[in-house]
Amino acid sequence: MLDFLGDLRRTHTCGSLRASDAGNKAVLMGWVNRRRDLGNLIFVDVRDRTGVTQVVFGKEMNPALHGRAGELRNEYVIAVVGSVKQRDPNTVNRNIPSGDVEVIAEELRILNEAKQPPFLPGETVLPNEELRLKYRYIDLRRDAMQFNIELRHKVALAIRDYLSAQGFFEIETPFMTRSTPEGARDYLVPSRVQPGSFYALPQSPQLFKQILMIAGFDRYFQIVRCFRDEDLRADRQPEFTQIDLEISYPQPERVYEIVEGLLTIAFQAGGFRINTPFPRMTYDEAIRLYGSDKPDMRLPVMVDVRGAFAHEQLAALGISPASPVLAIRIPNVGELSRKERDELKPLFNGRGNAKLFEDFKRLEKSFPVPAATIREQTGAQASDLLVLVTGESKVGEHKSEGGVKPEVKQHDQAVYTAAGLLRVSLAQRYADRHGLFQGGELRFLWVTDFPMFEYDEEGRRWAAAHHPFTSPHERDMDKLESDPGAVRALAYDIVLNGTELGSGSIRIHRQDIQQKIFHALGMSQEEARARFGFFLEALEYGTPPHGGIALGLDRMVMILASAESLREVIPFPKTARAVDLMVDAPTPVSESQLKELGISVRKS
Ligand code: AMO
Repeated sequence: MLDFLGDLRRTHTCGSLRASDAGNKAVLMGWVNRRRDLGNLIFVDVRDRTGVTQVVFGKEMNPALHGRAGELRNEYVIAVVGSVKQRDPNTVNRNIPSGDVEVIAEELRILNEAKQPPFLPGETVLPNEELRLKYRYIDLRRDAMQFNIELRHKVALAIRDYLSAQGFFEIETPFMTRSTPEGARDYLVPSRVQPGSFYALPQSPQLFKQILMIAGFDRYFQIVRCFRDEDLRADRQPEFTQIDLEISYPQPERVYEIVEGLLTIAFQAGGFRINTPFPRMTYDEAIRLYGSDKPDMRLPVMVDVRGAFAHEQLAALGISPASPVLAIRIPNVGELSRKERDELKPLFNGRGNAKLFEDFKRLEKSFPVPAATIREQTGAQASDLLVLVTGESKVGEHKSEGGVKPEVKQHDQAVYTAAGLLRVSLAQRYADRHGLFQGGELRFLWVTDFPMFEYDEEGRRWAAAHHPFTSPHERDMDKLESDPGAVRALAYDIVLNGTELGSGSIRIHRQDIQQKIFHALGMSQEEARARFGFFLEALEYGTPPHGGIALGLDRMVMILASAESLREVIPFPKTARAVDLMVDAPTPVSESQLKELGISVRKS
């Protein structure tokens, strides 16, 4: 028999009672976290989102009530009226804040039963992830998830307050819109009234926020859902949340200041103190020193040690003097067993034209002279892991479709980026040994001066590295036609511990420059008009200089929560195959729905 809530009112939450409440009446409501039946006494831990309180049912005191408590099972929802009592010193539970007290039950209402859940929120062993996602409502009852979702709320709230105080308006932009320029695949929504036409869900509010600057709002922000149909990884979800912002009349400096202030308060809300201003590094420098445009600064830089070798030695090792020899050092890994060394080898396969050329310990035996110099140049201690990576320095020649760019040198970028990936894999593999990822260190970095264009080998044309509305550096304008590969963009990323937290740029506000960029991208006027005509037209009606950035809220909270995956900080995430296991989406739809939309599905 279940009871009604009636007019019973909760007086305390389950995590709030303390010794000072002893002697008072309390009305608690929550889930049965655990029930221990000792015969004459039944102990029930009642849980809500704030914590757990122990409730005692004594047979002698109230046999009927004790009998009712015997009916309780895990995850039943109950209301308990009782008096707060200080526990005996030897029964105090030091593990919970309310562990000094217990509630002696005087009334129990069983508000709802629960089937035996597939796993219990209080279990210390984590159930497998599929089960967690299918029964997400049970999973979300777990302390860790409650903590993460509360953290997310606090961080978002702090950011809203901060940006509002800085003069930003939060303005909503449409979800049913047309393709945006972020470069992933769109999720499409068919139109019923115009069969064969589709809305696209926004990959970001990029063009709308720029139009809001044209519309005179000066400072815009939005904590906004974005949708991208792309291959998923631990730090990518098909729907995710950006803290998107845009300002009028900015230099990059203004954006950096605003973001540093924003991150200071966001991290404060998550319990961290951070130091500003953050260091900065150009894209070129980041590639040279870390082999990545999102360097993890907790680890040592890579060093090109080719100068340590004599020419004959390089020749003996089959290395061209023009190729970089990059030393990757991972501190304190200690001696590797032979087996561990063999296990490393596959890490080096399939990394472009780079190859692992030496495991340093072996090199040291055959070439003591360069080895000693390399130790000096890299600062490597005996316990550090040191590997050397090299590769043919590739000089490519490309012709772009529009005939805009005859040739581009690819330099040694492939070797650097391959070494950069290897550096991170090694660091992750030996994380337990070097401990550098465990200390809670937060290394922020601005990466600046990204290239404006990337060469798309497949399409044999230049593509926008950020998006085509990013402004080139004023000093590089004259290279737009003659040498697109050398044009730097006024684009910047904010990176934290090797994760790209956010990305932004100063935008193009002039129609003439926008045309040149489309031209450099090999996009005809007709094509540009067809894709972005509304925006190009808006640019012609008095567009102020503007720029901004978008930060990934999910990624930020993931780092604050020390979580391994975005799924730990998104209440209802999708799997790596973009499936929502709880609601079972996506699903086929009925023939009649398809017909109404004018869609027929080809069975292949
Ligand atoms: P960008 O595409 O770099 O820039 O995205 C900005 C930030 O959004 C986060 N992010 C993601 N988070 C989770 N899952 C994903 N699939 C995902 N994709 C991106 C990242 C990233 O740094 N309109 C521009 C911003 C601008 O120029 O102002 C944009 O969207 O943290």
